[in-house]
Amino acid sequence: MKRRDAVRSIATAMAALASPGSPTAWTRRFTSPAQMLTRRIPSTGETVPVIGLGTWQTFDVGPAAADRAPLEEVLGTFASLGGKLIDSSPMYGNSEEVAGDLAAKLGLRTKLFIATKVWTSGKARGFEQMEDSMRKLRASPVDLMQVHNLVDVNSHLDTLHDWKQAGRVRYVGVTHYTAASHDDVAKVVAKRSIDFIQINYSVGEREAERRLLPLALERGVAVIANRPFAGGDLFRNLRSKPIPKWAEEIDCDSWAQLLLKFIVSHPAITCAIPATSKTGHLRDNMKAGYGRLPDESFRARIASEVR
Ligand SMILES: NC(=O)c1ccc[n+]([C@@H]2O[C@H](COP(=O)([O-])OP(=O)(O)OC[C@H]3O[C@@H](n4cnc5c(N)ncnc54)[C@H](OP(=O)(O)O)[C@@H]3O)[C@@H](O)[C@H]2O)c1
Repeated sequence: MKRRDAVRSIATAMAALASPGSPTAWTRRFTSPAQMLTRRIPSTGETVPVIGLGTWQTFDVGPAAADRAPLEEVLGTFASLGGKLIDSSPMYGNSEEVAGDLAAKLGLRTKLFIATKVWTSGKARGFEQMEDSMRKLRASPVDLMQVHNLVDVNSHLDTLHDWKQAGRVRYVGVTHYTAASHDDVAKVVAKRSIDFIQINYSVGEREAERRLLPLALERGVAVIANRPFAGGDLFRNLRSKPIPKWAEEIDCDSWAQLLLKFIVSHPAITCAIPATSKTGHLRDNMKAGYGRLPDESFRARIASEVR
């Protein structure tokens, strides 16, 4: 990259990070998207940034330019701030198609780590659905294919084992979003060869700390945290509450950043995937991927503020 282009892209990224009310000291300290914190995927050592992007509901829009324009801005800003991993599913209406179209339009395909899912029963139907997802996302190979909510998990993992050997998928995983399913996810981790699990983990949903997160660490399985804001519920009691002064000590200037840093500071977590359709919220969330992370005592303080 020419120096002039490099300077321009850093300036664009920093303008995107700056938001009304953000301290200039923060923007001065973090001068490049390359400073986004990353984690290693245990099965290969490849790194991914700690903040990703969910697409449930948010990317489920039709073809109208007016509906897609805000999402184009969200995706473009995400990538310009160092984001890579986006998560979708055939269960999310038009989300795969919208994410695929926008990534192509923005020329981002090779810069993104694309995760999607298979959500059907039967080997043949799974095969067809996964091919359809890869076509919509324009991702072949796809970076990560996950069995959504463990639906017909063994059939699909058999297919995915073969597809991984054949180079059609780079990583394989399973997902769920309820604590009641964690024992079933743990059984898959113990019995099958998978690279990733994706589960619900947040300040409001901490059940995974008991068994699943230690198991993932022990088995060398990457963990994506879904529902990082408990679907948005965590903001209900925080909206009118001022951010504590000590948040500065871990480079946070919003509740969203504190909630996300709580998640990504757990040693088993690879990345969190907040969903948003608003560029302002996206910028806010991406800031959680920069700077100091909370230690145990700060994590306890964040949890006690949210209670
Ligand atoms: N079984 C599964 O595999 C499974 C299940 C659940 C979720 N997931 C994945 O995980 C992703 C995230 O979970 P989720 O979508 O359920 O919920 P979430 O990310 O916990 O919360 C999303 C909500 O938070 C709001 N929000 C985002 N950033 C904000 C900010 N900075 N300030 C204030 N509000 C903010 C969003 O509204 P705005 O749009 O207004 O910002 C939206 O209402 C999903 O999109 C999906 O990719 C997977």
